[in-house]
Amino acid sequence: VGEAVAEEASVGTAGEPLLVSAIRGKKVERPPVWLMRQAGSYQLLCEKYPSFRERSENVDLVVEISLQPWKVFKPDGVILFSDILTPLPGMNIPFDIVKGKGPVIYDPLRTAAAVNEVREFVPEEWVPYVGQALNLLRKEVKNEAAVLGFVGAPFTLASYCVEGGSSKNFTMIKKLAFSEPEILHNLLQKFTTSMANYIKYQADNGAQAVQIFDSWATELSPADFEEFSLPYLKQIVDSVKETHPDLPLILYASGSGGLLERLPLTGVDVVSLDWTVDMAEGRKRLGSNIAVQGNVDPGVLFGSKEFISKRIYDTVQKAGNVGHVLNLGHGIKVGTPEENVAHFFEVAKGIRY
Ligand code: CP3
Repeated sequence: VGEAVAEEASVGTAGEPLLVSAIRGKKVERPPVWLMRQAGSYQLLCEKYPSFRERSENVDLVVEISLQPWKVFKPDGVILFSDILTPLPGMNIPFDIVKGKGPVIYDPLRTAAAVNEVREFVPEEWVPYVGQALNLLRKEVKNEAAVLGFVGAPFTLASYCVEGGSSKNFTMIKKLAFSEPEILHNLLQKFTTSMANYIKYQADNGAQAVQIFDSWATELSPADFEEFSLPYLKQIVDSVKETHPDLPLILYASGSGGLLERLPLTGVDVVSLDWTVDMAEGRKRLGSNIAVQGNVDPGVLFGSKEFISKRIYDTVQKAGNVGHVLNLGHGIKVGTPEENVAHFFEVAKGIRY
């Protein structure tokens, strides 16, 4: 690991973005780096447009907000500003994001009749602004960075819909899973078909990699993961690979250290690790045929610059010099000093294998 020297985002081999080259296991000069934000630098726009759905469903705002980190930090990946819940209204599931409360699904889905009302998602019809925004983002960042799309995993989407929002103990979805599993399977299948189509739509409109968020897989025992999440993730990956064999798919399942050996069985190209897993151990447990993403603790960005550098070098060294996408283990936390984010990118982009 070399000295930190700030420089522009470099382009990977064959004119493809560095991030894509790294995921494909090609020899690259440094790990690509990008971050997710759950809040932060787009706060000004939040005041101007108070509703999350307004901000995330208008093509000009989506492009503007997506490009904010790109303009300031020149990351190697530019993620679409959207939400995993954005497709829900198109599936006949109204939702909102309420300040201080988070996502709210007004009519939780807990019966066979309610699940029967869920429609399959047709992206062209319901979220044309997503396709338009991805096309515009590609034009703007060219191949200097990879434009990243994303979707929610079936189990995580189902958790929100059955619980009615964020949950601490997941009693409603567990009750459904363990008393009337066929109803849950029916819902999971609808999300599976819909999200596979949504990934293809994002790729057709400019996404160069797509991240699948199974944020709540961590709530499942390994055996239950094998019943309620893994087969659906595998089905999504198989379906996407059939029509888009070269599209890199990243699986993010935070808190799922107990599931690590099972995650490659989905067929994804990259597993995103959180910081509760040691990067070197994670590598071993995942096997050699898969790339890794992560996994610096977002809290590290509240430390000194020296400390941040140390943690970056440590992670990069443990990940090895092939198939690593440097990232935090989760999104940037609210209140993170922007100069520390700038430092993170500067150090990361100065690394040479
Ligand atoms: O860098 C980016 O621009 C990322 C865009 C992005 C958002 N949500 C925007 C958003 C991404 C990748 C997501 C994914 C997402 N959404 C996940 C998976 C990631 C994870 O953290 O596990 C989940 C579980 C959701 C559901 C969701 N949406 C939650 C739990 C919240 C927070 C609610 C709250 O009040 O804090 C949201 C809202 C949301 N989505 C915000 C952002 C920036 C914050 C609220 C706002 O801007 O009004």
